[in-house]
Amino acid sequence: MKILMVGSGGREHSLLWKLAQSPQNPLLYAAPGNAGMAQIATCISIGVTEIASLVEFALQERIDLTLVGPEVPLTLGIVDEFESRGLKIFGARRDAAMIEGSKSFAKNLMRKYRIPSGDYEVLDDPKKARAYLEKVGAPIVVKADGLAAGKGAIVCPTLEAAHEAIGMIMEERVFGDAGAQVVIEEYLTGEEASFLAFTDGKTVLPMASSQDHKPIYDHDQGPNTGGMGAYSPAPVVTDAVHQKIMERVMLPAVRGMAAEGHPYKGVLYAGLMIKDGEPRVLEFNARFGDPEAQPLVVRMGSDLIPVLEAVIAERLHEATIEWRSEPTVCVVMASGGYPGQYEKGKVISGLDEAASVPGVVIFHAGTTLKNGKVVTDGGRVLNVTGIGKDIRQAIATAYQGVKKIYWEGVHYRNDIGKKALDRMVG
Ligand code: AMP
Ligand code: GLY
Repeated sequence: MKILMVGSGGREHSLLWKLAQSPQNPLLYAAPGNAGMAQIATCISIGVTEIASLVEFALQERIDLTLVGPEVPLTLGIVDEFESRGLKIFGARRDAAMIEGSKSFAKNLMRKYRIPSGDYEVLDDPKKARAYLEKVGAPIVVKADGLAAGKGAIVCPTLEAAHEAIGMIMEERVFGDAGAQVVIEEYLTGEEASFLAFTDGKTVLPMASSQDHKPIYDHDQGPNTGGMGAYSPAPVVTDAVHQKIMERVMLPAVRGMAAEGHPYKGVLYAGLMIKDGEPRVLEFNARFGDPEAQPLVVRMGSDLIPVLEAVIAERLHEATIEWRSEPTVCVVMASGGYPGQYEKGKVISGLDEAASVPGVVIFHAGTTLKNGKVVTDGGRVLNVTGIGKDIRQAIATAYQGVKKIYWEGVHYRNDIGKKALDRMVG
């Protein structure tokens, strides 16, 4: 069996790592991949948006199954293209990926199907947007409607900041056409969690809960990033909260998408704010989370391939997943300067020592090989993931791995998992 993974981040490396352990012993390919993925797969230099070249490669190599990591190729219709050529592929089709690709689409879906979420207004004229801000006041959240690499949501504590956000998004167009429209949304408080599920358009098979850490600095300070670390499970998602999320969010979303003529197949990811045991949706994503996939995949006890195939065949009601009871914690190691400007090409040391710590698995993100050495090649560089008998031990294990790794300018948060620990301790 030949499997192609589309993407080059920590999420993709973790999924590939899991596939490499399958009893089906698949032959693995990655496009474009990274230095870590190259150890278990053949990397081919085709970018994730070069859809015609990816189709051609899959046909030529007779790839049996393709798995898509990032959102951009999904919103460009990679799944539709592969399917039209008779190729098996796991991911949301173009219309279904709108749930992530257009915030106004997602918000309108939530309103129509009564999925709990913040109040909002969609506006395509900066004057009207400013007038609306004056009416509702701050704190408020201003979001570019389209994709903005996870940076399009601006939390505004004051009206002044909100006006500035309108200027940036709609007038300066810092996110390009993604800012032609904005969603202005009620500011929600509580604790965030990520809830991911497999779905074939009918059945929803939930994964374990997880929690991301978006801001760059400890104690959630500084600008938002793609995610600086994650852990699973998230204790804020109690059994009761889990049930509410399934009944009020996941099932209505999947049924709503089908009713709207956009049946949803793949991974559906709800970003949630949970307050007093009540979940409300911040956003939907049409894919695995990064870095949430990393701690999740390490806890996945059963083979992943049958689940992917069950989604594609629309027989997910026959599939199950076992989860290891031990918690996992993933610490992202980033380039100095990220999420702003950063340098590439720094030599990374200590990878083998870190990998030899019992309970540590390292997933690469922005890495590449240069003269036989692993060097930095992106903002988020490594994902050091630890498993332990409890959350305290998982945190200790992950940081034991982190401490063995070094490159010039390396930055990471020191408090990944602390919220879970505080909740456990009380
Ligand atoms: P999004 O891309 O929509 O998930 O937003 C990114 C981050 O902005 C979220 O993870 C939250 O931390 C924050 N955020 C988004 N929407 C809201 C909201 N309505 N209220 C409070 N914080 C929000
Ligand atoms: N961890 C956030 C995301 O994948 O969008």
